[in-house]
Order: sequence, then C-alpha cells, then structure tokens
Amino acid sequence: MTAQLHVHPDSLAVASAVAQRWAELAKVAIHEHGRFTVALSGGRTPRILYELLASPAWRDRLPWDQTELYLGDERCVPADHVDSNARMVHEALLDRLPHPPLFFPMVSDPLRPDQDAAHYASLLRERLGDAPIPTFDLILLGMGADGHFASLFPGTTALEDREALVLPVREAHLDHRRISLSRRVIAAARRRIVMVTGADKRAALAEVLHKPGSLLPIARLQRQASLEWHVDQAAYPVKPTAGV
Ligand code: 6PG
Repeated sequence: MTAQLHVHPDSLAVASAVAQRWAELAKVAIHEHGRFTVALSGGRTPRILYELLASPAWRDRLPWDQTELYLGDERCVPADHVDSNARMVHEALLDRLPHPPLFFPMVSDPLRPDQDAAHYASLLRERLGDAPIPTFDLILLGMGADGHFASLFPGTTALEDREALVLPVREAHLDHRRISLSRRVIAAARRRIVMVTGADKRAALAEVLHKPGSLLPIARLQRQASLEWHVDQAAYPVKPTAGV
C-alpha cells in the first residue's frame, strides 16, 4: 500500500501538521456523513497534539460537536491512573475544551479486560456500523521502538488475529494488561496517521522505510493499508542503517 512520509523539524511541527490534517479530514467527513470519528493513540507522543488541538489557536476552528473520540488502545488501569490513556486525553484535550466532544474510554473494570474488550466491540458495531466492519474516519497511531502500534506487539497472537474487532492483550514485558483495536479494524479505517518523534524510534523507522520485507508490526500494517507518516528530524533516519 502507499505511504506518505512527512518529515518535520521537531515534535511541535509534527503536531501542527497533524492538527492541520485533522481539520481537513474533519471537514471532509462531516460533509460526507455528518460526523468525524477518531480513534486516538496513547503514550507520550500525541500529548503535544492534543494540547495543541485544545489551544486557543485551534480549539475554536474544529467541529467538536460533530466529532466522536475513541481510543485505539488502553492500559487496564483505573481512569485516574498515571498510565491511563483516557486520563492523558482528558488532561491534554477534553478538560481544556469548553464544549468537549463525545469520548468513549475503553476500560471500565481494569480487572476484566476480556469483558471491556467485548463491550468496546459492541460499542463500535452500535455506533460505527458493522457492514462489513466498524469504520473510523481517522485512526491516530504511534510506533514503539519495537515497531508496535496500538497494543499490537511483535510475536503476539493479538497482532495475528484476523477476526476480532477489539482484543485483550497480555504481554509479559508490559506493566499492565491492555485492550487494543485489532489490526483488522485499524486497516479498515478511512485514514491512518502515524506520529513518530524522538531518536529512540530511528532504528525502527529506518527498518520500516528501508527494509521492504520488514516483519515489524507497523511495517506489516503498511503492506496492508496506507499510512500517512508525520515524523520529526530526530526520528528520521538520514540514510538507511547498514544491514537493513
Ligand atoms: C500506548 C500507545 C502505543 C504508543 C507507542 C509509542 O498506549 O502506549 O497507544 O501504541 O503509540 O507505544 O509510545 P510513545 O508515544 O510513548 O513513544
């Protein structure tokens, strides 16, 4: 599939570019079907974008009343836990907006990932339809240094699942169990924007960009569905790393 790569000087420039794309995609989606549905990424990278979207420079330019926000993945922790993606979205975006959009968190019982995953799948079918699969207008993704996206990690059954819409994820190296949209749902979205910043991502990004047969999770996604990359100079490999 096609890949668009945009390299920006720094993380603020990445966020500004993605904010502009958010506004453009929102306008098209609302014109075409009356709402804009977005699955948000978690972790550290997107916070600067969410804060920018909530800033005076952007918040009054966006159609929050016709926007619906979901999560691409979540840690199985209480909503006020420091590692909660829902908490980060509230702090960086929702709690800063005078009229926040609809937001659908993933976790209601951190001890019941299977139940929460099933509930979220039902929510997606109910709100986004199921013909043939719930379809987001936009899915925001980050990339781990191991090439994972959402909570779909290398060598996991969750990454290979071809049936589910939403999956519970248990990985020994993770601090918490997780819930994640499946690769099938992410690939089915109308558009995917990947934000990558920081030198710690350079090796993985070099492999994704320069090693055609890479088995990194996001490299496999890129062969399945188009990705729009917005990366900063620190993450961008100036030249292919020897051996990839
Ligand atoms: C999460 C994310 C995850 C993230 C990558 C990159 O819940 O952690 O959804 O997929 O995008 O791990 O994380 P950073 O942005 O913190 O580097």
